[in-house]
Amino acid sequence: MNLGKVGQAFTAKNIFDLIQEELAQVEQKMGVETVAPADAVTAIGKYLQSAGGKRLRPALLLLSAKLVSPTPNRLPEGAIRLGAVVEIIHAATLVHDDVIDGAQTRRGRPSTNIKWGNHASVLAGDWLYMQAFQIALRERDFRTLDLLIGLTQVMVEGELLQLDTIGKIDITETDCMELVDRKTARLFSVCARLGALAEHADAATEDRMGEYAWNLGMAFQLVDDVLDFTAREKTLGKPVGGDLREGKVTLPLVYALEYATPEERRLINGILTERSYDTTPFPRVLAILERYNAIERVRERAATFTEKARAIMSEFPDSPYRRALLAVTGLVTDRDH
Ligand code: IPE
Ligand code: IPE
Ligand code: MG
Ligand code: MG
Repeated sequence: MNLGKVGQAFTAKNIFDLIQEELAQVEQKMGVETVAPADAVTAIGKYLQSAGGKRLRPALLLLSAKLVSPTPNRLPEGAIRLGAVVEIIHAATLVHDDVIDGAQTRRGRPSTNIKWGNHASVLAGDWLYMQAFQIALRERDFRTLDLLIGLTQVMVEGELLQLDTIGKIDITETDCMELVDRKTARLFSVCARLGALAEHADAATEDRMGEYAWNLGMAFQLVDDVLDFTAREKTLGKPVGGDLREGKVTLPLVYALEYATPEERRLINGILTERSYDTTPFPRVLAILERYNAIERVRERAATFTEKARAIMSEFPDSPYRRALLAVTGLVTDRDH
């Protein structure tokens, strides 16, 4: 296997090759574990799983486990199970998030709320959460449960905080960062911590892994907020301009609004109130962002997080897994979906 020199660019394929077998096992486990006596749950589980998704969270967990493992080619069964746990939790949050946002599309298909309705989607999401905890319980490890319960509460609190911001234009950078932390970075952090825990790493190592992944997650969500403006819907798998249409002011807009003229501010406010681009077309918003270099500024902010993540990862001894975890930072910032 040619892994290249230290610092040499890893492609996404190189990275996923390192965990290919384990990811396939995670996938298989997810399939088996999301079969419920209620048909709607099984159907929704299958629908989401077959639509793909990047599987970034289990990948992060598995690479983290391998990084600290004395036998990276033989991960314990617990690491596979926990990989399924974090992806199922992620899927459950997406199902609930799409209900809350009234989303139309997810992973390039009609979202579950559109296909099954809000009621079945909420209940299926609940079931998936509980199933994830059921699987996690098999570790017989309170620390694992503690992490997952705390995480789920933080994410739900984040969605509640976000509800309070809907339709509001006076959002601060601090508000944005708190949401990014709760919605995304915390889960990334828990993935890396669980990988370390599955290999019985010491507390200090677990903390460093968690900090690495938290920074990665912050960058990931900031890039998600950028892509919401700059991507193509076909590549992104969800509609472009969706955040603003849903009444959400994310960091690119916060940065632009710092300098926007009263007229530009009025246009943005109009979209937030109307929840549509009928009066002010989306390209007009892009022009405002462009004028104040807002997208570039958010990208730079995201890069400060990935730099921090890389600095933390560089403290670990060199290995293919460290190189992959270093390279993941580049994939997060350069991705197009
Ligand atoms: C979507 O996460 C929700 C965010 C945190 C932005 P991903 O972009 O990882 O979604 P999938 O799993 O690849 O579909
Ligand atoms: C992130 O929220 C989804 C969660 C995991 C809570 P968003 O509403 O920003 O995500 P997308 O844009 O729908 O993927
Ligand atoms: Mg959403
Ligand atoms: Mg979003």
